[in-house]
Amino acid sequence: MSTVTNLVYLLAAVLFIFGLKDLSSPRTARRGNALAMLGMLLAIVMTLFDKQIIDFTHIIIGLIIGGAIGVYAAKTVQMTAMPQMVALFNGFGGAASALVAYAEFVRLSGRPGLDVLITMVLSVLIGTVTFFGSLVAFAKLQGIIRGAPIVLPLHHLLNGLLLLGALVVGGLFAFDAPQSSLLLIVVVISTILGILSVIPIGGADMPVVISLLNSYSGMAAAATGFVLSNSVLIVSGALVGASGLILTEIMCKAMNRSLANVLFGAVGTDGGGAAATAERRPVTEYTPEDAAMVLESAQSIIIVPGYGLAVAQAQHVLHELATILMERGATVRYAIHPVAGRMPGHMNVLLAEANVPYDMIYDMDQINEDFQNTDVALVVGANDVINPAARYKKDSPLYGMPILNVDKARSVMIIKRSLSPGFAGVDNELFYDPKTMMVFGDAKKVLTELVHELKR
Ligand code: TAP
Repeated sequence: MSTVTNLVYLLAAVLFIFGLKDLSSPRTARRGNALAMLGMLLAIVMTLFDKQIIDFTHIIIGLIIGGAIGVYAAKTVQMTAMPQMVALFNGFGGAASALVAYAEFVRLSGRPGLDVLITMVLSVLIGTVTFFGSLVAFAKLQGIIRGAPIVLPLHHLLNGLLLLGALVVGGLFAFDAPQSSLLLIVVVISTILGILSVIPIGGADMPVVISLLNSYSGMAAAATGFVLSNSVLIVSGALVGASGLILTEIMCKAMNRSLANVLFGAVGTDGGGAAATAERRPVTEYTPEDAAMVLESAQSIIIVPGYGLAVAQAQHVLHELATILMERGATVRYAIHPVAGRMPGHMNVLLAEANVPYDMIYDMDQINEDFQNTDVALVVGANDVINPAARYKKDSPLYGMPILNVDKARSVMIIKRSLSPGFAGVDNELFYDPKTMMVFGDAKKVLTELVHELKR
C-alpha cells in the first residue's frame, strides 16, 4: 500500500474518531456526522483509486442503487420506525463484510496464510449472524413477526451448540482444509444462530440488541479488514465494535438490566406497551381547558417527553406550547431520561426535529434536583422513566432504574391516552397521587387544544 494511501486512510480514521467524539452531545452531533461522512468518503475514494479497478460499471450501478435506497429510506422514515431502519442497515453492514470475505476466498489463488483464513471465518460467522439477527429484529419491530419472546425448548443450549459447531467447522477450514464447502457450512450454521439468538428477545428490548448487533457488524468489518489487509477497515470496524458495546452497556445500565437478562431473560411484550393491567382507582382528571389554566399560572415548568410523544408525532406542537408559555414569562425546560423512547437519543432527535434550542434540553443528571423547585412537571407520553416504584418497590421490573424526579415537583400533569402501563408493563403510582392531573388523550390532540386555549 502506498504512503499516500496510508496517509489518507489515517486521515479518515482521525475523522471517524473526532466524528464519534462529536456524536456524544446533541449540540455537536451534526458536525460529528459530517466529519465521519467526510472520513468515509475519503476512505471510499482512496480505496477505489488504490485497487486499480479496470471496470467501474458495476461499482457505479451499485453506488446509484444503494445511494438512492439510502436517501429514500432516510427521508421517508417515521420517527417511531427509526430503530428498525438502523437494524436493517446494521444487518447490511454484516452481510457486506461476510460477502467480501467470502469473495476474497474465491478470488485468492493458492492457500492464504493462517491469519487470513481465521479472519475469513470470523468475518463470515459474525457477519452472517449480524445479518440474520438484524432481519429478525427488523421484522419484530416492524410487526412482521410477533414481538413477544419466542423461546424453543433448550433454546440457549441449542444456541451454544450452534456456536460451537460453527467454530469447529471454521477451525477445520482455517487449520486443515480451506474448502468453500466448509465455509458454506459456517454460513448455514451462522444463519440459524443469528435467527435463534434474536427470536427469544422481546420487541421492546430490540434497541439494546440492535446496538449489540451494530457492535458485531463492526467486528465483522474489522475481521474483513484483516482479510484484505486494509487498515482503515480494521480501524473503522474496531471503532464501531467498541462504540456499539459501550452503547449497549449504557442502555442496559439505564434500564437497570444486565446484558444477560436482555439476551437470555425473554422479558417484555410486543414493544408497543404491555397489556393494560391498570387498577381501577380514582385519579384526578383534567380537561385541556383546566390544564391550560394551571399552565398559565405556572412560573416554572419542566417538560418530560417519552415514547408517546414519538407515537403521537407531537414534537412540533409541544414546542409551540413551550414557546407560548415562555412568551408569557414562564421558565420552560425539557428533561431527557437516557432511555426515554425506544432508542438511544430518541427524544433528542425528536426535539431537534422541532427545532427546540439545545439550551432548553437537560439530561437527567443535570435537572433532577430542580424538580422540587418547579411548579409543574408536564409529562407527555412518558411512563416508566417517571415511575417512583423504581426507587422502592423491590419486586418491580423497574427497581433500581434511575428515574426523573417528577413526583418531587409542586404539581404533575400527565398527558397520555389511558392508565395503561408503559414498556415495563407495570402500574404507575404517580397517576393516583393527589397532586397529579391526568389529561387523557392523544398527545398531539391534547397539546393542540392546550395551545388553542392559551392563544385565546
Ligand atoms: P413508556 O414507559 O413505554 O410509556 C409510554 C407511554 O406513552 C405509554 O404509557 C402510553 O400510554 C403513552 N402513549 C402512547 N401513545 C401515545 C399517544 N399517541 N399520545 C399520548 N400518550 C401515548 O415510555 P418511556 O417513559 O419513554 O420509557 C421508555 C421505556 O422503554 C423504558 O421502560 C425503557 O427501559 C424502555 N426501552 C427504552 C430503550 C431506549 S434506548 N430508549 C430501549 C429499550 C427499551 P397510553 O397507552 O395510555 O397512551
